[in-house]
Amino acid sequence: MVCVNRRFKGDEPSCAARGSLAIAEAIERGVRERHIDIIAESFICFGQCTKGPTVKLVPGDFILGTTLDMVPGILDQLEASCGHKPKEEDGPPVHLLGS
Ligand code: FES
Repeated sequence: MVCVNRRFKGDEPSCAARGSLAIAEAIERGVRERHIDIIAESFICFGQCTKGPTVKLVPGDFILGTTLDMVPGILDQLEASCGHKPKEEDGPPVHLLGS
């Protein structure tokens, strides 16, 4: 899960202001391209705002101060711990195959 919270008031920190939207997109794209058997989701604030951008492995630890450069390593970690989706999930949804 990637925090994509954005605050518009004053000097309050937020992950989106530090680039977490691009990180969330890169993780979602990497999960899809590598067929990693996990769901990548966006989230609004883990309470780690001053240390963000924040990524939370569920179950698992926080990854704080996340940068785009860290995404390949995060994907490697997810791939090693979660494996790959079964092949039958790679095709289009059954309802789109026609009759
Ligand atoms: S704004 Fe991202 S953890 Fe709070």
